[in-house]
Amino acid sequence: MMISVRNIEKGYNGELVLRSVSLDIANGEFVSIMGESGSGKSSLLSIIGGFLSPDSGQVLWDGRDISTFSDKEMSRLRCTGLGFVFQSFKLIPTLSARDNILLPASLGEGVKDETLEYMNTLATRLGIDGMLDKYPDQLSGGQCQRVAIIRSLVYKPSFVILDEPTGALDSENEDKVMVLLGEINEKLGTTIVQVTHSRRVAECGKRIIRLSDGRIAL
Ligand SMILES: Nc1ncnc2c1ncn2[C@@H]1O[C@H](COP(=O)(O)OP(=O)(O)OP(=O)(O)O)[C@@H](O)[C@H]1O
Ligand SMILES: [Mg+2]
Repeated sequence: MMISVRNIEKGYNGELVLRSVSLDIANGEFVSIMGESGSGKSSLLSIIGGFLSPDSGQVLWDGRDISTFSDKEMSRLRCTGLGFVFQSFKLIPTLSARDNILLPASLGEGVKDETLEYMNTLATRLGIDGMLDKYPDQLSGGQCQRVAIIRSLVYKPSFVILDEPTGALDSENEDKVMVLLGEINEKLGTTIVQVTHSRRVAECGKRIIRLSDGRIAL
C-alpha cells in the first residue's frame, strides 16, 4: 500500500503538536521515524492509521482519502488490511494472547487454518509459542509486546504501522523482531512504518525520517 500524508496539522487543547506534516511512503517501503519524546510521533502514526483525525490535511491510502471511508469499510480494512502496534500494546485484558491475536477474524469471516499455522510460526519465531493461553496480566511487558506484534502481522496486511515495537525487548528479541519485519517487507512486499528511539532499529528500515517539534526535519 502507498501512503500520502498531506499538510497534516494536529493540536491538543490549542497546542499544535504536528505542523504541516507531508510525507509520501511508496508501496513496499520500510520507513523508520525518529524524534525526541513528545515530538508527535505517536500522534502522526495514529493519524496515518486512521485512529485519530487531524485538525486539517489529508491521509491517502492508495490515493484514497481515508476520511471518506465508511465506518464499515474502515473497520474491514483495520481488521485485516492494516496492522497496528500501539506504543501501549492495547491488548484486551479479558482475552488470552491467542484470542487477542485472532480477534479480528472472530469479528469477520472466522479463523482459517492457515492463519492459525502462521500465528504459530510467528509465535515460535518470536519465542512466545508456549505463552498463547496466557492472559495479558500473566505476561511480561516484552511478551505482551510480541503478542501485539503478532496480532499486527497475522493477517498478512499490506501495511503495518509499529510504534516503538522493540521498546520493551532485550537486544536478542529485538533482533528477532527486526529480522522478521525485514523478511516480511522483502518477501511479502509489506509497507512498514515504525517509530523507534533506537538507531540500530531505525537502520533496519530503508529510510529514516526525523520529526522535530511537530515538523519533518530536513
Ligand atoms: N490525547 C492527548 N491529549 C492531550 N495531549 C496529548 C494527547 N496525546 C498526545 N498529547 C501531547 O502531544 C505531544 C506529542 O505526543 P506524542 O505521543 O505524539 O509524542 P511522541 O513523539 O510519540 O512521544 P514518545 O516518544 O514519548 O512516545 C506531547 O506533548 C503530548 O503530551
Ligand atoms: Mg510515542
